[in-house]
Amino acid sequence: MVTVSTEFKIEKIKSSKIEIVDWDNIGFGRFYSDHMFMADCENGKWKNGQILPFQNLEFSPAMSSIHYGQSIFEGMKAFLNPQGKAQLFRPEKNLERFNKSALRMGMPEVPHDFFMKSIETLVDLDKAWIPRKRGSALYIRPFMFATDRFIGVKPSENFRFMVITCPVDAYYSEPVKVFVADKYVRAFEGGVGEAKAAGNYAATMMPVVEAKKNGFDQILWMDPVQFKYAQEIGTMNVFFIIDGTAITPRLNGAILEGITRDSILQVLKDKGFPCEERDISIDELVDAHKNGKLQDAFGSGTAATISHISCLGYKDMILDLPDVESRNVSNMIKKELGDIKTGYIEDKHNWVYPLER
Ligand SMILES: Cc1ncc(COP(=O)(O)O)c(C=O)c1O
Repeated sequence: MVTVSTEFKIEKIKSSKIEIVDWDNIGFGRFYSDHMFMADCENGKWKNGQILPFQNLEFSPAMSSIHYGQSIFEGMKAFLNPQGKAQLFRPEKNLERFNKSALRMGMPEVPHDFFMKSIETLVDLDKAWIPRKRGSALYIRPFMFATDRFIGVKPSENFRFMVITCPVDAYYSEPVKVFVADKYVRAFEGGVGEAKAAGNYAATMMPVVEAKKNGFDQILWMDPVQFKYAQEIGTMNVFFIIDGTAITPRLNGAILEGITRDSILQVLKDKGFPCEERDISIDELVDAHKNGKLQDAFGSGTAATISHISCLGYKDMILDLPDVESRNVSNMIKKELGDIKTGYIEDKHNWVYPLER
């Protein structure tokens, strides 16, 4: 087993920037906490784990990740429980997914203790940045990128792992209008769709701008061959409630294995609510809508939490969904998961990871 030092050097900021935060209007990605974590991997060995004041970085214009996209990330959140103690939600699942992404992208894994300690130390140092308002949280962004100074397509030999954090509200404040993809594709089986690779998001930028011009907020990505089967939405997995059953696309290598998705399936199963992980076609959704059986549709993710879908736009059709107030299932899950994450109700599955006792 590789041993790696978790004795990190810590350089604290001279004076905190926390007073610039508008706590009533945090938004998403507007404010960054005082410190960041940084470490380098050379010849397969992680070293120089350190915490520094949040600052700009300097790199060679020939840095390979800029050119060839060997770059991955994660997204998780820290919350305050009713006793004011900091806690995370299933962070080891993020680590597992991070290392799976790393392997798929030809990058080194980050050892368990190194990853966990970097986050624990950083969140502890910037605890004052965890919002007190319920529904808000400290977003944690671990990421890794190739740092070889090399022009030419080959896997990098050097990498940087970093963690930054920022106080955030939920990603979407309103229900989202979702356009069903009929021209562009996000991912395909055998590709890198299930990795949290930077390039997956780059591929969606232009199509989303186009969808926004047409009055939509996001795109429901469909299978890349027939544009028939639903995959996921932007930064969320997707769920449909049809005639009393929750249906979410099965994991097929093209879809991110969402931690919120997995948690929702567990909460629903605990309550005896019928759930299916399977292919779901646009024809089935159109039919269910026509017959009044499409009761709910929502996206799920760490950043987005549970985000109601107000309508689906498919070709020249608009499938309007019921009022948000009537969506018993998604409203129940949103509350239940929110309450587990913040320690307001019992955590039956040991999902909460306390940072302080
Ligand atoms: C493409 C994509 N799908 C789904 C999700 C939801 O995953 P999770 O619930 O782990 O945040 C995310 C967010 O990380 C995402 O970026």
